[in-house]
Amino acid sequence: MKNKKLIAIPVVLVVAIIVYAAIMLSGRAITADNLNDQFVQVIENNGCLQCHAADPEPFWYQKMPLVSSLFEKDMTNGYRSVDLEKVVAQIQAGETVNIADVSKIEQATLNNDMPIIEYSAVHWGSNLNASEQQIVMDWVAGQRTTYVQGIAEEIGYEMDEATLAAAISEPVQIMPNPSDYDIDPEKAELGLALFHDTRLSADLTVSCATCHPLNNGGVDGSQFAKGIASQVGGINAPSVYNAVFNVQQFWNGRAATLADQAAGPPLNPVEMGHESFDDIVALLEADEEMVKAFEKVYGNEGISQATITGAIEEFERLLVTPNSRFDQYLAGDTGALTAEEIEGYELFKKNYCATCHVGVSMGGQSFEKLGTVVDAAVYYEERGTEISGDDQGLYGFTGNEEDMYKFKVPNLRNIELTAPYMHDGTHMTMEEAVRTMFRFNTANPEPTDDTVNKIVAFMKTLTGENEYMDYVNVPSNKLGQ
Ligand code: HEC
Ligand code: HEC
Ligand code: HEC
Repeated sequence: MKNKKLIAIPVVLVVAIIVYAAIMLSGRAITADNLNDQFVQVIENNGCLQCHAADPEPFWYQKMPLVSSLFEKDMTNGYRSVDLEKVVAQIQAGETVNIADVSKIEQATLNNDMPIIEYSAVHWGSNLNASEQQIVMDWVAGQRTTYVQGIAEEIGYEMDEATLAAAISEPVQIMPNPSDYDIDPEKAELGLALFHDTRLSADLTVSCATCHPLNNGGVDGSQFAKGIASQVGGINAPSVYNAVFNVQQFWNGRAATLADQAAGPPLNPVEMGHESFDDIVALLEADEEMVKAFEKVYGNEGISQATITGAIEEFERLLVTPNSRFDQYLAGDTGALTAEEIEGYELFKKNYCATCHVGVSMGGQSFEKLGTVVDAAVYYEERGTEISGDDQGLYGFTGNEEDMYKFKVPNLRNIELTAPYMHDGTHMTMEEAVRTMFRFNTANPEPTDDTVNKIVAFMKTLTGENEYMDYVNVPSNKLGQ
């Protein structure tokens, strides 16, 4: 009698679980007939928006004491990691979804990480089943095809079927060779000269190359770059190499294009200090050779802000760095990387690094929080110096509260050459930067030394080639000198 009762309890429990799961699952049927809508149903049916929306309504139990603080943190960190409400809205409006968001969703599905365990323990069946996973992966493939073709079109190069297929299956794509796309060589040559021309600065001492020397990875190697009269700025100079792939320029995205960007430093009082472009035009117009060079490229358009920055932009389009060992590996040469480096790449993907450091240049595609799982305030507190306007990131440009401490993700190409790291140039080594990333931006705060070492070994394979990488930088103020 007693035994029977004991057996009955688990039996009843199991039946209850099956009935409950059946109810849950039947409520989660995918009814839409196109892939985009099916994907949206997967997100909506599995409670993903509960933690990945700006202002979700908590479930009743999430409001209970103790539980509420747990869930509040999950909802905050989830929203900081990816805004799925925005993704759904973009799909419904027929817009393209940012490739970083696409890759985050892909990786969470591959890892079977979402929803986080505290949630799926309560919401049975909220982990994606096989057919839901298939929907997500098909949707990801479609999104990535659009992304890869968009880049090819923008930069003007033809991609064969095999390259396209390889590009779609990885979060990171092979770096194209500048010889494969259209460049106006004369315009680029004029841009090269202007890039080294100190007449772009008011006291004729500073050129673009002063802060972005081409033979030093396109960076000056100091925490903060020095402008005219030895004035020091407040943010680390990113590389000019591969900047052409950035969705927007600057850490806070305030320039839309390379030409827009190039109009900034000459008038920045700390950097080059001109009052207006008219002063620069006057200096250049006084130089006969310069006038001729502009005429050759621009006909009678003459020397102007638009023609100066246009030529610099054309030159910067050449500053891409193909054929790193990692690119050779992506192109199918598995022997190009050691076993340790390949493991490093796998860890880089598994730990979500490749979801923000994504695309051809492994960054530059999105603005992301410094501190998705640990607050940026902790970062600044440990740094020990006051938070400046430069530290606010995208917020400083948009003024939107949700953009506070979001930065354009730095690209990791040639990372070995571009120390110090982070927007505030406070990290001297790749190891330090990788550890900070793990702690602030992933769910794995304390990686083993082995993991860090392998990822760093992998990052060292990202150094590519460019004819200007050993160009002798002599800032001058005469064309061709
Ligand atoms: C209870 C809250 C919660 C729910 C529900 C939830 N997530 Fe998350 N999600 C988080 C948190 C917290 C993070 C931050 C990383 C971490 O802690 O694992 C995150 C991170 C992510 C990321 C960024 C990559 C990463 O893991 O760092 C993706 C993508 C994601 N979630 C997708 C989903 C999807 C898809 C669903 C629905 C199937 C979902 N999430 C449901 C809390 C949640
Ligand atoms: C005094 C040093 C200095 C000079 C001179 C200078 N830069 Fe910069 N450059 C910087 C710093 C610092 C940043 C980052 C500023 C920010 O994001 O707020 C930057 C950002 C950039 C970026 C954006 C890269 C990215 O990933 O967002 C490009 C491109 C660039 N500079 C090109 C140029 C060009 C072209 C010139 C000459 C017209 C030039 N720079 C002159 C220091 C300098
Ligand atoms: C949620 C997006 C996100 C994830 C995930 C992420 N990063 Fe970052 N990473 C950033 C942002 C944003 C910065 C710039 C932060 C700053 O400078 O304040 C950055 C900076 C870096 C830098 C410094 C680069 C430089 O030139 O200054 C390195 C190195 C780096 N990340 C590596 C990694 C590694 C390795 C991982 C995985 C463990 C990772 N990141 C995961 C967004 C991310």
